[in-house]
Amino acid sequence: MKKISTFDLYPGMILDEDVLNYDRQVILSSGTALTDTLISRIELNGVLEVYIKEVDNEASATEEASKGNSAETTVNSPASTQPPQSENNADQLNKHATYADRIKSSPDFQKFKEDYDQITSGFKFKLNEMIDKNVEIDTKVLLQEPLQLISSSGSSSNTLDMLHNMRDYDDLTFAHSMNVALLNYVAAGWLNWSEADKELAMACGLLHDIGKLQVSHDILTKPGKLDNVEYKHIQQHPIFGYQLLKDRVDVHIMNSALMHHERYDGTGYPLKIKGTAIDRFARLTAISDVYDAMTAARCYRGPLCPFRVIEIFEDEGFDKYDVEYILSFLSNVGNTYVRNSCRLSDGREGEIIMLNKEKLSRPVVQCGYEYIDLSKHSDLRIEILL
Ligand SMILES: [Fe+2]
Ligand SMILES: [Fe+2]
Repeated sequence: MKKISTFDLYPGMILDEDVLNYDRQVILSSGTALTDTLISRIELNGVLEVYIKEVDNEASATEEASKGNSAETTVNSPASTQPPQSENNADQLNKHATYADRIKSSPDFQKFKEDYDQITSGFKFKLNEMIDKNVEIDTKVLLQEPLQLISSSGSSSNTLDMLHNMRDYDDLTFAHSMNVALLNYVAAGWLNWSEADKELAMACGLLHDIGKLQVSHDILTKPGKLDNVEYKHIQQHPIFGYQLLKDRVDVHIMNSALMHHERYDGTGYPLKIKGTAIDRFARLTAISDVYDAMTAARCYRGPLCPFRVIEIFEDEGFDKYDVEYILSFLSNVGNTYVRNSCRLSDGREGEIIMLNKEKLSRPVVQCGYEYIDLSKHSDLRIEILL
């Protein structure tokens, strides 16, 4: 049995223990072989670590011997805790690079990355200072640089695209907070919130996980299984964050730290409140938070295709989120890629022409003279953006 961070999971691993959500309900049973979709479900439930069956020597030897015979065999080999090295996976990464490389080689992206790195480390320094020295939390100062980053990246679609491609580089807590801040700003714009509210949403994103810095390091890095008390401790990070920010910042920022793990249908934590009892800024932060976790690159692939992310949200149902916010968010994510080229799962290449309001993950794609409505072709999906 080996404890593995959700970030390091890859398809083919076998669960060695039930995966529970924060309400201690079983989401996946022990013995389940993980797939990309199941890994996303684990992330969606905010689970940080799971237990995976370890490879014994005999199994490793068999795996070694079978290398090169069949990609399928290697990926699905039981009890593997090493990333699959199949040709199939290398191909997947190369294919993925087509779209990503185009963006990453642009001067705009290089500039964005440079600014982003600098701003994120500055943010880390300022935040640590606020906690260690208990100095005043001046959100205006915190917001200055991320706002410049937003204005220099042009349109909201551009910001989203840049962020999506940053995912290969950095997935640290501070980068996560910066991403949620930028996503909140863009998402608030899509909802036509005022400039003041957009900036407030950005501050909510920047500080939403500040309580994590107070979760005991020993618990976060404990090699063995967490007991109930320890589990509850991690679950307290929204409360730690709230206490840290109380009376030092705007009430919506305090509430976003406290309520970003609450869910619209009452299945969240720590207060288990539902609907509009959850602060509207926290309802928005919850979406950006989950979206950022889901689009993270994994060791076996690049960032998920945005249409795949939309599909995962659709499969899970929208009950957990404010329906107006989630529909606005996902349709705008989809719209970012209308007119983009893509490759379908049957190998055909085409252009995304328009979204389907009923099924945002399945737009209409033009291949040559043919218009393919993916909502009517359940056997087809967008594999990658080109
Ligand atoms: Fe959190
Ligand atoms: Fe978060």
